[in-house]
Amino acid sequence: MFPVYYFLFFIFGASTALDTIAPNQSIKDGQTLVSAGGIFELGFFNPGNSSKRYLGIWYKKDTQKTVAWVANRVTSLSDLSGILNVTDQGNLVLLDGKDRVIWSSNSSRSMRYPVLQLLDSGNLVVKDRNDSHPENFLWQSFDHPCDTLLPGMKLGRNFKTRMDRFLSSWKSTEDPAPGQFSVWIDSNGFPQLVLREGAAIQYRAGSWNGVGFTGTPALKPNDPVCDFKFVLNENEVYYKCDPTNSLVSRLWVNQTGSIERLILSSQRKTWLHAYSAPVDQCDNYSLCGANARCETNSSRVCSCLEGFVPKSPEGWSLSNWTEGCVRRGSPLDCKNGNEFKVYAGFKLPDTSNSWFNTSMSLEECKEMCLRNCSCTAYANSDISKKSGCLLWFGDLMDMRLRTDVQQDLFIRMVNSEQDRTDKSREVGIIVGSVGLMAILMAWILWKEERRLELAVDTLGESLPPPEVLRYIHVGLLCVQQRPEDRPSMSSVVLMLGSECSLPDPKQPGFFSERNLFEPEFSSGNTHSCTTNELTLSILEAR
Ligand SMILES: *[C@@H]1O[C@H](CO)[C@@H](O)[C@H](O)[C@H]1NC(C)=O
Ligand SMILES: *[C@@H]1O[C@H](CO)[C@@H](O)[C@H](O)[C@H]1NC(C)=O
Ligand SMILES: *[C@@H]1O[C@H](CO)[C@@H](O)[C@H](O)[C@H]1NC(C)=O
Ligand SMILES: *[C@@H]1O[C@H](CO)[C@@H](O)[C@H](O)[C@H]1NC(C)=O
Ligand SMILES: *[C@@H]1O[C@H](CO)[C@@H](O)[C@H](O)[C@H]1NC(C)=O
Ligand SMILES: *[C@@H]1O[C@H](CO)[C@@H](O)[C@H](O)[C@H]1NC(C)=O
Ligand SMILES: *[C@@H]1O[C@H](CO)[C@@H](O)[C@H](O)[C@H]1NC(C)=O
Ligand SMILES: *[C@@H]1O[C@H](CO)[C@@H](O)[C@H](O)[C@H]1NC(C)=O
Ligand SMILES: *[C@@H]1O[C@H](CO)[C@@H](O)[C@H](O)[C@H]1NC(C)=O
Ligand SMILES: *[C@@H]1O[C@H](CO)[C@@H](O)[C@H](O)[C@H]1NC(C)=O
Ligand SMILES: *[C@@H]1O[C@H](CO)[C@@H](O)[C@H](O)[C@H]1NC(C)=O
Repeated sequence: MFPVYYFLFFIFGASTALDTIAPNQSIKDGQTLVSAGGIFELGFFNPGNSSKRYLGIWYKKDTQKTVAWVANRVTSLSDLSGILNVTDQGNLVLLDGKDRVIWSSNSSRSMRYPVLQLLDSGNLVVKDRNDSHPENFLWQSFDHPCDTLLPGMKLGRNFKTRMDRFLSSWKSTEDPAPGQFSVWIDSNGFPQLVLREGAAIQYRAGSWNGVGFTGTPALKPNDPVCDFKFVLNENEVYYKCDPTNSLVSRLWVNQTGSIERLILSSQRKTWLHAYSAPVDQCDNYSLCGANARCETNSSRVCSCLEGFVPKSPEGWSLSNWTEGCVRRGSPLDCKNGNEFKVYAGFKLPDTSNSWFNTSMSLEECKEMCLRNCSCTAYANSDISKKSGCLLWFGDLMDMRLRTDVQQDLFIRMVNSEQDRTDKSREVGIIVGSVGLMAILMAWILWKEERRLELAVDTLGESLPPPEVLRYIHVGLLCVQQRPEDRPSMSSVVLMLGSECSLPDPKQPGFFSERNLFEPEFSSGNTHSCTTNELTLSILEAR
């Protein structure tokens, strides 16, 4: 009639390693449940030097008895009178010496033959005595994580049941109550893994792009420690790490807000650090403000994205980047058509204000972005399948250089009109700074086919010679005698932006060997020739 373990329990009490109890049985302070393989143990403990008692699960073989889960995190027991009962319906009830309920599993359903079992995964479950299918569990501790994500445990949200599984740090080594820091799959917009301090995002491990989280080099599939999975469908979104070998590992958030992955050493004496985050200042959420990128080892930690300028130049010059960057010139004007600048090797911006469709193509994605004037960027949502569409609206937040992220991000730029002006200005600056004399020298040298020497001698080695040559070459084309030999403004943009071959320049328009060294040439004509306006007007003359 009764299973063997009932019998053993009555004979040996808690001294025998049971992994299961049934209703009308209980666990008193001093008694424990031990998982079948002897991996985990459930019982009462004191955290640190605290005298308070808690019901929890710890690693049995770990000499430090590291606690992985606590039932009564918030309400402690003050003495050794605690007792865990399993009700006939399969509810777990933790009582103190006066039969007051300290904690309860609050199962809404009930079961005819419930049993409580501690599994080798560290999952404490209430299930039917004949049914071990996880989807039929009445209750499981894996649905109520504390600060530790064990292999097999899901971190994330079930959209149907609205259950959201997240980690929260302990208040201190002596108090397992939820502390300041928590780790979530934030499912606003395209889901992303975030660390919060209170309600504020402190660090973003970022969104999953099919290969990994774009904000951390760790936590990828085929990790040597465990196999990370990311699942996103209409029912749920979660990250999970399935065990791949016998290594004992855990991911947790500590009291000072670090997410750490630890591996138990073979002597079981210490936990070895495999990974921790955040790592550096660029991991601080939005350190550089809006529309900027962070680069830890750069002399300028923060810089604006192309086409953007610091909103507060004063603050920016004092390394106060909080104001971020704004679009240079006018705000996005969608009427004149837009272009996209492609960025690669970046942590993707904050997706909490994004939209996604996992079945669209990149081309459809671009069209979709162009159709909505508040769309500021797009990307594939899954680069392993080269598919899916991710759209950003408004400011782009929290980007950082991350060369290991092999993903293109397309950022919307104001119409090429703006771009052209920028490029022309660039030409003007180059032509202006090189100066007319240099152009003349350039022409002479060009004729003598000493182009490379020119670049090195005249401009030093700060720019790579091919690029300098190209600027000078285009500069020469722009000051051709016959207007029809001068490139149009859009050609200039194209010439500077590409590596297409350029026509050989003819003799510059104002060039005359006769007056080369006559003073009025350099004081008069030269002056107007070296201004940006002239360069532009020459270009625009076409
Ligand atoms: C548990 O105890 C109650 C009351 O003592 C009894 O009615 C019930 O049948 C018991 N349940 C089991 C499973 O033994
Ligand atoms: C809890 O279990 C113990 C031992 O089985 C029993 O004596 C006690 O009455 C139970 N308490 C409640 C409130 O069910
Ligand atoms: C407990 O107290 C001892 C002695 O005061 C101290 O050395 C030890 O670090 C404390 N342990 C913890 C976990 O706080
Ligand atoms: C159980 O439900 C009660 C009442 O709804 C609630 O106050 C309590 O926080 C719940 N306990 C747990 C552990 O969820
Ligand atoms: C369910 O388990 C009980 C005890 O473990 C056993 O006696 C019973 O035959 C099982 N029922 C079925 C349908 O397997
Ligand atoms: C939390 O983890 C970080 C990173 O490993 C470490 O520097 C810090 O000391 C830890 N904090 C505590 C309280 O252990
Ligand atoms: C990063 O954030 C932490 C915690 O808020 C703060 O102490 C630290 O000063 C920040 N670092 C930088 C460079 O802003
Ligand atoms: C920054 O430089 C240090 C020391 O050279 C290096 O260890 C670290 O990986 C670099 N960090 C990044 C983000 O490149
Ligand atoms: C940085 O700038 C912001 C906004 O201008 C201001 O509120 C903040 O106090 C500044 N921070 C520091 C450290 O000066
Ligand atoms: C996603 O895109 C596909 C292909 O364009 C389309 O059939 C589907 O309706 C879209 N789904 C949503 C939710 O927009
Ligand atoms: C553009 O996208 C935003 C954000 O999703 C949305 O609120 C707005 O209605 C869209 N506008 C158009 C014209 O589709």
